[in-house]
Amino acid sequence: MSAVVAPTPRPGVLEVEPYRGGEAGAPGFARPIRLASNESALGPSPRAMAAYTALAGELHRYPDGGADALRAALARHHGLAAERIVCGNGSDELIGLLTKAYCGPGDEVVYSRHGFLMYPIAATAAGAKPVTAPERDLTVDVDALLKAINRRTRIVFLANPNNPTGTYLSSDEIKRLHAGLPKSVLLVIDAAYAEYVQRNDYEPGVELVEANRNVVMTRTFSKIYALGGLRVGWAYGSAEIADVLNRVRAPFNLNAAAQAAAVAALQDVAATDRAREHNDIWRPWLARELAALGLTVNPSVANFIIARFPGTSGKTAADAFEFLKSRGILTRKIAGYQLPDWLRISIGTEEEMRAVVQACADFLRGS
Ligand SMILES: Cc1ncc(COP(=O)(O)O)c(C=O)c1O
Repeated sequence: MSAVVAPTPRPGVLEVEPYRGGEAGAPGFARPIRLASNESALGPSPRAMAAYTALAGELHRYPDGGADALRAALARHHGLAAERIVCGNGSDELIGLLTKAYCGPGDEVVYSRHGFLMYPIAATAAGAKPVTAPERDLTVDVDALLKAINRRTRIVFLANPNNPTGTYLSSDEIKRLHAGLPKSVLLVIDAAYAEYVQRNDYEPGVELVEANRNVVMTRTFSKIYALGGLRVGWAYGSAEIADVLNRVRAPFNLNAAAQAAAVAALQDVAATDRAREHNDIWRPWLARELAALGLTVNPSVANFIIARFPGTSGKTAADAFEFLKSRGILTRKIAGYQLPDWLRISIGTEEEMRAVVQACADFLRGS
């Protein structure tokens, strides 16, 4: 008889630090101001809501396991090959599937020091070792990433722009990173915030995917398309990578309502433009106002910023977080990203932005 008294998971699983999302509730506030999860400020497109509602009478039907209509819509919209798009239950699912498919015990997964936390979680869950490379000025350092590569490296994850820092790498820098990688290493370009970026030297990753067999780009409908609650992500890679993802994903990983709403959201170009324009006004506004209060604000190209608090007694980022929460404003502590002095604040509505600035002013003034 074995001495084992209960089933044990695979090596690595119990080392996973569960991902903690942004807080959604503040005591005493029925509808707190939620700036903790980089959700859309303006909410979903009315067309997406209508598509979602229209499915209510069809809930007994299984969804299209291939998400054909959504993949066709994405292919048309972005000029891509539909057969090399794979949809996921949020891009988080795709990050996990890529890691499980390409890594295991003894392998290494490289990402940058302040990179998105799902990368080490996914690596550890797959039994692989997450390895961080230092950043420079809170920006991914290509040379440092390349230095971290060795013969055990299987995947390099790069969020571009990165969450939580908000910074990005130019297309040339990413090409330089790719050029320095062995062909056996998979480069995952996580472009969750691509639609917000307004820079001429930015490219979400399509060019590298088209020219190579070891690059995959992940995207999401959770940010500018405002469908975080429905969980829709997609990946674009070589035919081999798409084939691998299709083998390891669940057959109906994207529910029917999510597929229908995502198609409608993609087609509502005016709603996406409005969301981008809103962000272009209120992100710089928030950055300026917080800087005027004496906080250090890191330059961001996404729909959030990070601000550094003084760190003196009673004025730390954790104190600011609690103060804001007591006013019904939820932000994100990012000590888990090695940034204990900073808070991440998503871009919300005008009213929410004015409220968070006023609350920060009161906090710093000590009222
Ligand atoms: C960089 C990055 N990648 C991926 C995701 C996950 O997005 P999804 O909602 O599609 O799982 C997020 C969400 O915050 C993110 O910030």
